Amino acid sequence: MADPFLIGSGMTGGYGGADILHDCTLAVERGEIAVIVGPNGAGKSTAMKAVFGMLKLRQGHVRLNGEDITHLSPQARVHKGMGFVPQTHNIFTSMTVAENLEMGAFIRHDDFRDTMAQVYDLFPILKEKRNQPAGELSGGQRQQVAVGRALMTRPSVLMLDEPTAGVSPIVMDELFDRIIEVARTGISILMVEQNARQALEIADKGYVLVQGANRFTDTGKALMADPEVRRTFLGG
Ligand SMILES: Nc1ncnc2c1ncn2[C@@H]1O[C@H](COP(=O)(O)OP(=O)(O)OP(=O)(O)O)[C@@H](O)[C@H]1O
Ligand SMILES: [Mg+2]
Repeated sequence: MADPFLIGSGMTGGYGGADILHDCTLAVERGEIAVIVGPNGAGKSTAMKAVFGMLKLRQGHVRLNGEDITHLSPQARVHKGMGFVPQTHNIFTSMTVAENLEMGAFIRHDDFRDTMAQVYDLFPILKEKRNQPAGELSGGQRQQVAVGRALMTRPSVLMLDEPTAGVSPIVMDELFDRIIEVARTGISILMVEQNARQALEIADKGYVLVQGANRFTDTGKALMADPEVRRTFLGG
C-alpha cells in the first residue's frame, strides 16, 4: 500500500526527560483534513512539533510524499512543502498584517504578490487591515494572519495547532470554512483542535490522543458515532 502523503509513524520521544510521545502515528492524505483531538497535556502540540522537526525522536519516522524527512530541520521541511502554525506566538504583533505575510514568504526568491492576493481573497478582512499592526487585530483575525502567513510559502501540507483557540463560535465556523476551502485546493491539513465535535465533523480522518499515544483513529464521522469516544471525549 502507498504511504499517506504525510505520515509521522511510531513517533517516540520528548523534550530530553521522560518520553512524551509513545509510538504515536499521525497521517494525512493529499487534500484531506486530519484532526487531532484529546485532553489537555495529551501531547497534541508535541506530536505536531515532532512532525515538523522541532523534537528529536528516539524512534519513528516522518515521511512526506514518500521521502524520509525524519532528520531534516524545520526550515528544510518548509522547503519541502510543510507550513506550520504553532499554538502560540504565531504572528509578529508589532509588524503590520502585510509585513507578517511578507515574512511568511521568507524562503521565496520569486514574485509572491499572486500568493498574497490569494491570501487576501481567502481572508478579505486582512486586505482591509493590511497596514495595521497585527497585534491590534481581534483573536480571529490574528489567526487568519497566522494561517495566511503559513500559506505564503505555497505549502502542500498545512499544520495548524488549535487555529480556533479563543474565538467565538461564529468565528470558529468561518475559520473552519476557510480551512475547508484551502483543503479543496489540494493542500493537506493536519490540525489540532480543542473544539472536538465541530472539527471532527469536517475531518476526513480523526485521531484521539491520550498520554502521548493513539487511543482512537477513524474517519471523523465514525469517531463522532462511537459511543465510547462520545462518552469520554465529546461530552456524551
Ligand atoms: N517545552 C517543553 N519542555 C518540557 N515539557 C514539555 C514542553 N512542552 C510540553 N511539555 C510537556 O509535554 C506534555 C504534553 O504537552 P503538549 O503541549 O504537547 O500537550 P497538548 O495536548 O498540546 O496540550 P494542550 O491541549 O494544553 O495544548 C505535557 O506534560 C507538557 O507539560
Ligand atoms: Mg497544545
